[in-house]
Amino acid sequence: MPRLTARPRLAAAALALVLAQFVLAQDGGAPSGPVSSPETAGYSCDTTKCKLPACQCASTSPPGGLSPKDVPQFVTFTADDAIQSYTLEVMDYFLANRSNPNGCSPKMTYFTSLSYTNYSMVTDWYVAGNEIADHTMTHAGKPNTSEIYGNLRALNAFAGIPMSDLTGFRAPMLSWNGETLTHLYNASFKYDSSMTSATLANASNTDAFWPYTLDYGIANNCLEQSDICQGRLKLPGLWELPMYSVFQPNSTSGIHLMDPWLDGNPDEVLDWLKWSFTTHYEGNRQPFGLYSHPIHLAVGYPGVADPIATRQMLQTFLDWVQTHENVWIVSNQQMLAWLQNPVPNAQIANVDAFKCQSPDIPASTKICNGVSANEAGLLNRCNFADFPWQTCYYCPSVEPTPDNPVPSPNKGDTRHTVPSNCSTAFFDPIKNVCTCSSDSCKFTDQTKPIGNYSTNLGGTSSDGSSTAPAGAEATAPMKQNSATIGAVPSLAAVLLAFAFAILA
Ligand SMILES: *[C@@H]1O[C@H](CO)[C@@H](O)[C@H](O)[C@H]1NC(C)=O
Ligand SMILES: *[C@@H]1O[C@H](CO)[C@@H](O)[C@H](O)[C@H]1NC(C)=O
Ligand SMILES: *[C@@H]1O[C@H](CO)[C@@H](O)[C@H](O)[C@H]1NC(C)=O
Ligand SMILES: *[C@@H]1O[C@H](CO)[C@@H](O)[C@H](O)[C@H]1NC(C)=O
Ligand SMILES: *[C@@H]1O[C@H](CO)[C@@H](O)[C@H](O)[C@H]1NC(C)=O
Ligand SMILES: *[C@@H]1O[C@H](CO)[C@@H](O)[C@H](O)[C@H]1NC(C)=O
Ligand SMILES: *[C@@H]1O[C@H](CO)[C@@H](O)[C@H](O)[C@H]1NC(C)=O
Ligand SMILES: *[C@@H]1O[C@H](CO)[C@@H](O)[C@H](O)[C@H]1NC(C)=O
Repeated sequence: MPRLTARPRLAAAALALVLAQFVLAQDGGAPSGPVSSPETAGYSCDTTKCKLPACQCASTSPPGGLSPKDVPQFVTFTADDAIQSYTLEVMDYFLANRSNPNGCSPKMTYFTSLSYTNYSMVTDWYVAGNEIADHTMTHAGKPNTSEIYGNLRALNAFAGIPMSDLTGFRAPMLSWNGETLTHLYNASFKYDSSMTSATLANASNTDAFWPYTLDYGIANNCLEQSDICQGRLKLPGLWELPMYSVFQPNSTSGIHLMDPWLDGNPDEVLDWLKWSFTTHYEGNRQPFGLYSHPIHLAVGYPGVADPIATRQMLQTFLDWVQTHENVWIVSNQQMLAWLQNPVPNAQIANVDAFKCQSPDIPASTKICNGVSANEAGLLNRCNFADFPWQTCYYCPSVEPTPDNPVPSPNKGDTRHTVPSNCSTAFFDPIKNVCTCSSDSCKFTDQTKPIGNYSTNLGGTSSDGSSTAPAGAEATAPMKQNSATIGAVPSLAAVLLAFAFAILA
């Protein structure tokens, strides 16, 4: 737990280890049985009043009245916690060489907390088309508004993520309550993804609902959150993207949620994953999730054996998944775009959110913008003792904290933060100019006709298979882009910046 003490100066590698232990310590919480029931949920929703795109009832059937065989099977491969070279290598390893049915490389959602995050890598990941979402600044369970909104402000100021694209949240340790959800609602978040489905997706009375809005209350985790079920907490327009469990075949007790590969040997986990995926794919096609803390899949991590067999197993699983038709590996934002306007597979080529476009910026343009050819040599190094990080924007004079998320610049550092009217990839934070005007930003479309672009990354495996609601904005000023620079922090805030380095 955080303590207000001075901390020893540790090398970055040693701190990375602290982080690994921290993550390991937080990984429990896999359900041991059902976490909700129709009786405890007491959920009822009026389908004649609750209509897309604004409202969607919790249902095990696909949205828009579509039949399961006509809808995509979404796979969301999410990541939680700090973004660093180790963790982005993991996501690249699994996704960079794959293609969705339109030839575009799969995108994912990174629920980012800022302790030990290398901010410039957040910019890179975002500019490459991935979603950055909120996981609080210091990985706090049942977080206060400073933790939730401060993370948005710091990601905006120091990683250049536009406020308008920071739309999702996952509670650290999946520790949330009605207040957490209300904080999200108040700040016009589009979705939460912290709730659990722990009943087999094709069982009768399952809680494996397709994502839904909270207009009629919550329908998951009602054995645990009885105070807010039965329609007691209604948050119109806020989407819930339930996290779907992985099950051991024909077992009622073997339930796995985050990092299921930590719970068994690679061969058995591969069986769990394939079997569980089939309950979705051959059933109602609820999205299937791989919810990771990528640090557990990292290689070259000091003092930790490389999980080679686990990485190989997961590649084999993804290869196998991609042999199924109509499978799309997507970010939560991409999936939400389809959910709000669901079209059958026959019209999927028209879904803009699934297309891939890269910004047209000549490599000779030297701007710090998250594109490696452009920003080479331009990163700003912020030399904080516990974890030095890099940024395209200015280095703050003290580390960002929940109560002071956007500290003033280091003396003499005149870099600017991204304005809301310029795309991150086109903004020059050194000269403070947008290299495109809003209608001249050019993108190259790399989308291909729908087809089979599957790539075998896993090799041959042992079994022979190839491998917001209106008005809320006013109550949430923190959702504005950081146009101004924060005040000088208090001594308490400075001390708090240090407190996180020591983790039990
Ligand atoms: C931080 O980012 C910089 C620039 O991308 C990179 O050179 C460095 O290796 C990164 N460090 C970590 C620990 O992520
Ligand atoms: C992805 O492709 C690149 C370029 O061909 C290659 O260097 C890399 O090893 C591949 N990664 C995986 C995980 O196969
Ligand atoms: C919010 O919680 C964090 C710890 O998670 C704490 O550092 C901060 O002071 C709190 N802020 C307020 C305003 O209570
Ligand atoms: C949400 O906003 C309302 C209206 O401003 C406020 O009364 C309430 O305290 C806020 N609740 C939370 C949990 O943030
Ligand atoms: C699960 O049970 C069914 C019915 O008893 C059986 O046919 C099937 O082989 C079992 N699957 C596994 C993976 O054990
Ligand atoms: C659910 O899916 C599994 C895996 O395909 C299958 O074995 C099982 O019979 C299905 N159960 C129901 C109730 O359809
Ligand atoms: C795509 O092509 C691969 C390799 O030829 C094949 O194994 C797979 O079954 C195909 N998938 C679909 C959905 O057609
Ligand atoms: C963005 O807004 C600033 C300040 O309002 C203005 O000076 C600038 O011209 C705008 N840039 C574009 C590309 O619209």
